[in-house]
Amino acid sequence: MAEAEVREFNNPHLQGNNKPIYEEITAEDLQVIGEIPSDISGNFLRVGPNPYYVPDEARYHIFDGDGMIHGVHISGGRAAYRNRFIDSVGLREERAAGHWIFPGLNMFGDYIAKGEMPRTKNTGNTAMVFHNGQLFAMMEGGTPYRVSLPDLTTEGEHDFDGTVTHNFTAHPKVDVRSGQMMTFGYGITPPFLTYSVVGTDGRASHTTEITIPKPIMMHDCAITEHYTIFPDLPLAFDMERMLAGESMIGWDPDNGCRIGIVPRNGDDSSIRWFEIEESFLFHVANAWEEGDEVVFQACRSNRGGIVTSEGSDVREQLGQLHEWRFNMSTGAVTSKALDREFYCDFPRIHDDLVGYKNRYTYAARFRVTDMLVFDGEMKYDNETGEIQVHSFGPHCESGEAVFAPRINAKAEDEGYVICFVYDKESECSECHIIDAQRFTEAPVARIKLPQRVPHGFHAAWVAD
Ligand SMILES: [Fe+2]
Repeated sequence: MAEAEVREFNNPHLQGNNKPIYEEITAEDLQVIGEIPSDISGNFLRVGPNPYYVPDEARYHIFDGDGMIHGVHISGGRAAYRNRFIDSVGLREERAAGHWIFPGLNMFGDYIAKGEMPRTKNTGNTAMVFHNGQLFAMMEGGTPYRVSLPDLTTEGEHDFDGTVTHNFTAHPKVDVRSGQMMTFGYGITPPFLTYSVVGTDGRASHTTEITIPKPIMMHDCAITEHYTIFPDLPLAFDMERMLAGESMIGWDPDNGCRIGIVPRNGDDSSIRWFEIEESFLFHVANAWEEGDEVVFQACRSNRGGIVTSEGSDVREQLGQLHEWRFNMSTGAVTSKALDREFYCDFPRIHDDLVGYKNRYTYAARFRVTDMLVFDGEMKYDNETGEIQVHSFGPHCESGEAVFAPRINAKAEDEGYVICFVYDKESECSECHIIDAQRFTEAPVARIKLPQRVPHGFHAAWVAD
């Protein structure tokens, strides 16, 4: 098996804490500053792009990298670390060949201009979900990978007994009360959107195509007890733009902005579409039902993009926590900012409340000068409107945090907010455990990690 080419890169998405690592480590009994709480037991997991081979460095896109999971297993007041590549079908093929085979996103136009379809790699690099006792790692262009815990071994692609054949979002939603998982896939060619419900038997019980006018990048969805919610927003695919050498995904306000709310087992005939103001969201915080209203909270930006537009104010593309209410009886829509000061994304709540009213939302705070750097974590209170910030200081960078409830917790925020923190000065990474009820205080534990953990995308907490 050929080794990766270890070298320095010039592309900022491959420098600093975006620089890939190659070693897969297992380390027990990690050193800690403070005390690891003994009232949680489980796996803190974070996945992200970590390219083994880089096809074209100048055109590397952060979505291209092979998936790597970093995991910290916490139990009995002790912690162990592991990191493993997602041993994807494509990565295996490339490692056997000893070089890159799959072009990056920004290279697709070269192939299409020649009349060829570029081969795409299902890297599993974006997010994870735990459903029916199984952990899945996903990217939105492919099939989920089954990954074992706690050893993070890739067990293979998973198509739910052949019942899910469409692309699979990285952000399915699990209703812990019914045990169902709601998922979807989008396509560049029709059908542009396909929706499925996976039951507790691990098979799709309902699949339906949903009509939207244009092919768009739909990154997330939401659920409530009775509905599934799809944001049809103007981050659209445009082949002509790609052939002109530009990004194939761009801002297209002509698409309009609408939110589709479909009964859980509904279809095109029962979906309700609500027009909203021109805006974008990558990530949903939560949604729930209140009387006739569906409440929908997400990190809203004025516009969306997968690259920072040259010369534009970066804040136009940074999210702020926002709430829309859709009246299923009257059709009325209200739109309200929940935070006008801080910019954030990667919102998370107590996982047991997905689809049900939650009081607390956590999110990673942007360093406002940069779309991809987070320097703190937020805690929002839906009841009081209180906004709290946990700041890591000028030379530290974080990412998505998860909420890990204390064993036998009663209150919604009785537990810990956990994330990775990278210190630019020492070039070292730590796993921070913050008491969610003492959110602005120093973390109760800073677990020293045996190697740098590159910035990644989404995190998960899977209790033992
Ligand atoms: Fe995401």
